[in-house]
Amino acid sequence: MRQHVNPLSSNFNQIERIPSLSEMFGDSKLNLHLDIGCAAGDFLFDLALVNTSWNYLGIEIREKLVKNSKLKVIEREIKNLYFLFGNANNILNDVQNKFIIKNLKSISFNFPDPWFKKRHNKRRIIQPEFINTLSNSLQKGTLIFIKTDVKDLFDYMDCTISSNFDFKTINKRDFNYSESFNPNKFKTSREKYVIVNHLDIFERIYIKI
Ligand SMILES: C[S@@+](CC[C@H](N)C(=O)[O-])C[C@H]1O[C@@H](n2cnc3c(N)ncnc32)[C@H](O)[C@@H]1O
Repeated sequence: MRQHVNPLSSNFNQIERIPSLSEMFGDSKLNLHLDIGCAAGDFLFDLALVNTSWNYLGIEIREKLVKNSKLKVIEREIKNLYFLFGNANNILNDVQNKFIIKNLKSISFNFPDPWFKKRHNKRRIIQPEFINTLSNSLQKGTLIFIKTDVKDLFDYMDCTISSNFDFKTINKRDFNYSESFNPNKFKTSREKYVIVNHLDIFERIYIKI
């Protein structure tokens, strides 16, 4: 069992310089998807290699994982994939980085750390202030995907996002994945584990209105 990183630690107050989109990607005009808490980035590598008409950005708080992912991107000369190290909350709440949120077509929160204890709930990535930050800068039509195997965390995330009237739920049955960031329905590492172990998956899609 890995030790969870405390995102509220002062270690993450300092944010690395965030490059512009044209520094991150070969073609900065492509649709942009952000995966928050991307771990080693395997899911994003799968996506970027197949869907070359999208750009993929991953944010991860474990520095070593980001260093390794960045090296792999350079080795494989992938132009539509970029990784940022840090607490996604701090990075995206910073006014200098508003351009990221403004340019997104979609965001995924896949199996975020649950922080079960009530006194640790503040460490959860989805917080009302963070959802406000997103709703203030996201363009209309931007999608948010959440997925978890923890029912309590799902209820909390769903309640937090739904409490913001700028977001509306999309019925999964009506959703056309072929035009999304993940037309092949690739699975994340945690999702593969959850499926093999026959655990439940709770998921929902929201649209900024
Ligand atoms: C349970 S793992 C899931 C990884 C991956 N999304 C998947 O589905 O396999 C959660 C990941 O989110 C990262 N994480 C947690 N809080 C974060 C934060 N505030 N900012 C960025 N990454 C965070 C953790 O380090 C971990 O890699």
